[in-house]
Amino acid sequence: MRDASANANAKRAAGEAAAELVKDGMVVGLGTGSTVAWTIRRLGERIQEEGLQLLGVPTSYQAENLAIDSGIRLTTLNQNPVLDLAIDGADQVDEDLMVIKGGGAAHTREKVVACSARRFVIVADEGKYVKRLNHAVPVEVLPFAVRLVEQRLMDMGGAPLLRLGKMKDGPVITDNGNFLIDVDFEEIADPRGLAARISSIPGVVEHGIFDNLDELYLARAAGVEIIKKRG
Ligand code: A5P
Repeated sequence: MRDASANANAKRAAGEAAAELVKDGMVVGLGTGSTVAWTIRRLGERIQEEGLQLLGVPTSYQAENLAIDSGIRLTTLNQNPVLDLAIDGADQVDEDLMVIKGGGAAHTREKVVACSARRFVIVADEGKYVKRLNHAVPVEVLPFAVRLVEQRLMDMGGAPLLRLGKMKDGPVITDNGNFLIDVDFEEIADPRGLAARISSIPGVVEHGIFDNLDELYLARAAGVEIIKKRG
């Protein structure tokens, strides 16, 4: 078991390493969470130190606020529909580079941004790298449809749990104004098949299974390892 400071150092190492991928003139998707926050901060430093020119597309209010504080100019997908690069964190990544995201309830915008990018990079510490995915899958759902979606997820063998707020009574409300259900499927043998079945439920806005990762920046004790998509 890694201690908290080793884990924090690993997140920082992975996040800062990926910031070096950004070149002058790029339009970059800025992910959400504590690991990619190091990427965003490092990009702010590079703007100060080198005069790096970039435009960022944030995936959440958290990313937007941090980017503004870091001096990164922002744009939108309407203005720049194709991004050069998107960098984000993850909750779990398997050896086939399938990913579960949404621990921060931001996976819907994160997926739109990642799918708008020519290259999608995840930054993570090695505790998140597994042989087979077994993390609960976050599912963003229209509040109107929550009971139907929960029932369908149970019919599929999942154990759904409505995510509740901290410092806020009742359900978490996403940046898009929806509810979020965390669904435990235990070990996931076929992530692509499961993703398709969840997407087919009426009222589901988006789930947290991502199949479009190009490169993983994985912080290990010995340094940051870059794992690329096979083929
Ligand atoms: C946000 O909803 C998530 O997809 C995050 O990217 C993910 O939870 C990673 O967060 P940390 O880097 O804080 O672990």
